[in-house]
Amino acid sequence: MALLPILQYPDPRLHKVAAPVQQVDERIRQLVRDMAQTMYEAPGVGLAATQVDVHERVVVIDISDEGNDLHVLINPEITWKSEDKQVYEEGCLSVPGVYDEVERAAKIHVRALNEQGEPFEFDAEGLLAVCVQHELDHLLGKVFVEYLSGLKQNRIRTRLRKQQREAERELDQV
Ligand code: NI
Repeated sequence: MALLPILQYPDPRLHKVAAPVQQVDERIRQLVRDMAQTMYEAPGVGLAATQVDVHERVVVIDISDEGNDLHVLINPEITWKSEDKQVYEEGCLSVPGVYDEVERAAKIHVRALNEQGEPFEFDAEGLLAVCVQHELDHLLGKVFVEYLSGLKQNRIRTRLRKQQREAERELDQV
């Protein structure tokens, strides 16, 4: 297993659209293992392949406190969204230190493949519904801050670019 570097907003590669997985094989299972390890290590509750610069439709999610309830979603699709909405304060491993409220569907129905390439379906609500919608947005090249006002997005970009420059300078000095 390996920890994968996570792309940091505003990296343009976060806006690539992921392609469907053609075959769920050992390469994909290795990617899933690496993504899960990277998510748990961060720590985070979800990670999309886009965030580790792999542009295929793969997502891992674990919203449990114990970190023992891994959801692996390959080629996931939301097949139904409720009319009613919920607002959650979201964060993202690609946008460190930024948390803000996003409104999304309160309930969804999801179809995906598991690590064996077998189809499965489930209903999600609450935090799991938030996470699935957030991660599926990543696969479409969309980061949650794009739901915020233009002013907020500008501030976030400026702040993160500054942090990234400072981090690079520190590396240079080592
Ligand atoms: Ni995210």
